[in-house]
Amino acid sequence: MRGLARVCGAACLGLYRLIVRARAKAFSLAISGAFDSFGRRTVIELPVRLHGERRIALGSDVFVGAGSWLQALGDGRLNVGDGTSIAGGCILSAASSVRLGRKVLVARNVYVSDHIHAYVDTERAVLEQGLTHLDAVDIGDGAWLGENVVVCPGVRIGRGAVIGANAVVREDVPDHALAVGIPAHVVSRFAPLPAAAGARN
Ligand SMILES: CC(C)(COP(=O)(O)OP(=O)(O)OC[C@H]1O[C@@H](n2cnc3c(N)ncnc32)[C@H](O)[C@@H]1OP(=O)(O)O)[C@@H](O)C(=O)NCCC(=O)NCCS
Repeated sequence: MRGLARVCGAACLGLYRLIVRARAKAFSLAISGAFDSFGRRTVIELPVRLHGERRIALGSDVFVGAGSWLQALGDGRLNVGDGTSIAGGCILSAASSVRLGRKVLVARNVYVSDHIHAYVDTERAVLEQGLTHLDAVDIGDGAWLGENVVVCPGVRIGRGAVIGANAVVREDVPDHALAVGIPAHVVSRFAPLPAAAGARN
């Protein structure tokens, strides 16, 4: 009896995974032409919120997990490099320029924005005050942003840098550094392995 339940469970899960993958793939293929560019094997899972797709460029082998929101406002541009993986529930919002490099790992519920809402006008609701502090954000190749990370306008995160869960990044983080906390600060740096360093020369 236990064996049969296991086989049925595995079969149902297999079917579920197949349906989820097929649906995401079909949706991605159907919408790909609307983007500035949309690389091969790139997949966006449903549900997703999209705005300004004409100014959104996604490389190849990009994964955008369910519940994410990608937007390019006004003349803003959003670029996501090849092989970057965005777990889901993430917001990438560009009113100027947001660039994620290649093979960036983005955990769930990460928020990256190159602007904030203006808020100092006491006569108007924040949502009526427009945007301010527009300043490009750049996240280097191979970086890793942990769960719930917030990246603020004007920040550059270096190649291979790691941002600990729940950090709010307000200043640049150098290549191959670990930054944590609110506001995020660098707690360690790690040099490339000798073999990798040699390969680059
Ligand atoms: C970033 C992370 C991977 C670092 O792990 P690690 O290499 O083991 O780092 P350490 O534990 O040596 O931490 C170094 C210091 O930073 C602190 N630190 C690490 N992560 C932190 C965090 N998220 N917030 C605040 N401080 C943190 C540690 O307490 C330690 O401080 P100390 O030297 O004063 O004791 C880990 O802490 C983390 O945030 N994990 C969550 C990753 C995640 O979101 N994964 C989702 C799947 S993609």
